[in-house]
Amino acid sequence: MQTTLNPAAPAFSRAGIVWLKLSVVYLIIGVSMGIAMGASQNFTLRPVHAHVNLLGWTTMALAGLIYSVFPKAGESRLARAHFWLMNLALPVMMVALGLVLFGRMAVVPVLGAAEIVAALGIVTFAANLFINLKN
Ligand code: HEM
Repeated sequence: MQTTLNPAAPAFSRAGIVWLKLSVVYLIIGVSMGIAMGASQNFTLRPVHAHVNLLGWTTMALAGLIYSVFPKAGESRLARAHFWLMNLALPVMMVALGLVLFGRMAVVPVLGAAEIVAALGIVTFAANLFINLKN
């Protein structure tokens, strides 16, 4: 039998599960980068490591937990917009940031565009919670 965080909710929302699974993929990537940086003593990609862990793991896992506890918010149109904005922007943003850190300054506009899309994803998340979180 499936357990829920909120006994009043019928089950975890599908959206919450997808967010949580994606977040652990980012955790594995982020932790692997941390180990590689420590082993090589090359910390060039430190900001990528920090953002993969904090936006990819922490922020996405929190979204997954929130959308699980509040399935109405997890299944809203704003949640879908949040999902696609964040999940399309973040991989592009991380690769572009890595390239910029290695001196590929031509990639800066791509990085800027991905950052704006990711920020729109965060704004959508905030709007979703304000509109759809109800007792
Ligand atoms: C086994 C897991 C991890 C390893 C081996 C690791 C390793 C590292 C290393 C080697 C650095 C660079 C330290 C330096 O420059 O002196 C670093 C920085 C950092 N890590 Fe991790 N880390 C791990 C997990 C995490 C997690 C889970 C988070 C966040 C949720 C995180 C967030 C950060 C942040 C914010 C920085 C500082 C970035 C900066 O100053 O630009 N790390 N980590």
